[in-house]
Amino acid sequence: MPETNPKYPELLKAAKEAAQRAYAPYSKFPVGAALLAEDGRVFIGCNVENASFGATICAEQTAIVKAVSEGCRKFVAVAVYCAETDDCWPCGICRQVLNEFAPELDVIVDCGNGSVTVIRLPDLLTRSFGPKDLPS
Ligand code: THU
Repeated sequence: MPETNPKYPELLKAAKEAAQRAYAPYSKFPVGAALLAEDGRVFIGCNVENASFGATICAEQTAIVKAVSEGCRKFVAVAVYCAETDDCWPCGICRQVLNEFAPELDVIVDCGNGSVTVIRLPDLLTRSFGPKDLPS
């Protein structure tokens, strides 16, 4: 992993563990996420699917909703783990949801094949629309 933040390996481990809790009976595509807050707290999430497919919640969204509902809104990084594909980047909706609270977020992706990539959210969601674009 690129030398960025000493906490990132631990964050990836948490994401990998979270993937084991995924409820993915339909896609068989377990995903885990771990969100590092500015205050050092870590919020984990997994995807939670539903028989009504559109009601499925992604791992990153689970983690964000858990954090915000616990009163935490400032984040440094999110780690995402999915071993089902060689390229497991957060989906478009997850990028948008992450951008709402952390437009400068580091996104760490581990596809379980030995390659770990760290990229900044603005590079995943260019010309984003977010709170900055609405009148306050
Ligand atoms: N999924 C995530 O959890 N995060 C993403 O960023 C991409 C997709 C989940 C949703 C669904 O349960 C499964 O992966 C297949 O789309």
